[in-house]
Amino acid sequence: MAPLAQRTMTEPRVDCDLPGPRSAELLARQERRESNARTYPRHLPIALAEAAGSFVRDVDGNVFIDFLTGAGVLSLGHNHPELVSSVTAQLGVLTHGLDFPTPVKDEFLEAQLSMLPVTMRNRTKAHFCGPTGANAIEAAVKLCKIATGRGDIVTFQGGFHGSTHATMALTGLVSQKRPVPNSVPGTHFFPYSYCGRCPLDLSPDTCSTNCVAYLERSLTDSNGGIPLPAAVVLELVQGEGGVVPATTDFVRRLRALTRELGIPLIVDEVQTGCGRTGTWFAFEQYGIEPDVVVASKALSGIGTPIALILYDAALDTWASGAHIGTFRGNQLAFAAGVEAVRIFRRDDVLGNVRRRGAQIHDRLTPLMAHPWVRDVRGRGLMWGIELADPDSGRPAADFAGAVQTRALRRGLIVERGGRDDCVVRILPPLNVAADVVDTACSILVDAIETGHP
Ligand SMILES: Cc1ncc(COP(=O)(O)O)c(C=O)c1O
Repeated sequence: MAPLAQRTMTEPRVDCDLPGPRSAELLARQERRESNARTYPRHLPIALAEAAGSFVRDVDGNVFIDFLTGAGVLSLGHNHPELVSSVTAQLGVLTHGLDFPTPVKDEFLEAQLSMLPVTMRNRTKAHFCGPTGANAIEAAVKLCKIATGRGDIVTFQGGFHGSTHATMALTGLVSQKRPVPNSVPGTHFFPYSYCGRCPLDLSPDTCSTNCVAYLERSLTDSNGGIPLPAAVVLELVQGEGGVVPATTDFVRRLRALTRELGIPLIVDEVQTGCGRTGTWFAFEQYGIEPDVVVASKALSGIGTPIALILYDAALDTWASGAHIGTFRGNQLAFAAGVEAVRIFRRDDVLGNVRRRGAQIHDRLTPLMAHPWVRDVRGRGLMWGIELADPDSGRPAADFAGAVQTRALRRGLIVERGGRDDCVVRILPPLNVAADVVDTACSILVDAIETGHP
């Protein structure tokens, strides 16, 4: 008999209460033996058996559309056959290579550089990091501190950059930071251009990006209290922060300011990178060139872990061993990444991201008429529906939780984020088909229209 994944999964189907009996058993064993810090199965109570494309099957045989895609890692869906073949072929050749050059690594970097704007290709150097986004952010910050000889970092409210000690320090999420005393000193938070919840309480109609003007004045004021920073760290679309795209004005002025003051601009493309927003990197849509680009999640397209920073060669002043790590040479990830870039070009996957993004826009924006829907926003295939109490404007976390649960019961896996987790988020595979998007949107709309709890 064929393995389950090879039997078709073409539509969602949930045949029992969730969790089903086998999932319940594994979840109970997990609860007994694994850490209290575990997250996803608390809100999505299923145990996974197998997956293919945009679908995943739980151990009870229920089939779900997976619009979480391993937190944005599986850009070409689960088990893309050509990526599976490239990883399988590489397995018998070489799997782990530290930072030695290898043919497949060379091909991988060539492919990555070819995806950069032409003007950046010849001045870009790469450093392969430990295989997580957080590790690469740490490397980017160290690179800039060493190159500038400065110690302070500017970052933005609502941003997420990882869970290590230093990346958590750069992250807005207070609940994660509160229990861990003594954060990394020299980190300064400024308002992001999130007009829907403007910390300066200005209206988008009267404000011409006062948030970036505030940053400009703070950094140029001789009494501003902040020494010239080593770097500014920016997400172009805040993902965990609730799918908040930065405004174009904000980003362009920030780029101009950092250039004028000689501050390296690090763009965190861990989530937005590798096609997620409709261009290979999100910064391309803003007409800017950053000094450092951080990429990780979807670099291999199939979840074989890898992370790297791409940076201006002028910053390359650090010494041998300045950022080491055992797992910097995942040859399986390199092989898959080469194949992923080839598939993106051959299948016009970026075109699909834009078309399916437009489809999601058309299907979900009518939800704005719902009193509890405060906003529907996104770029490419990264979308969020922000839910808030219509009377108080407070984040409607319970409603968002109920929507996530209802969607799961109807066969759709979605994520949450934003203030108090009040934003229902979707991160579909970038090669997702139109009919799957259609089914998923119907489930989501229905889960919201069923009403607030
Ligand atoms: C924008 C951004 N930066 C960094 C990270 C951290 O990546 P990792 O979980 O691989 O350490 C994430 C993870 O979600 C992210 O979304």
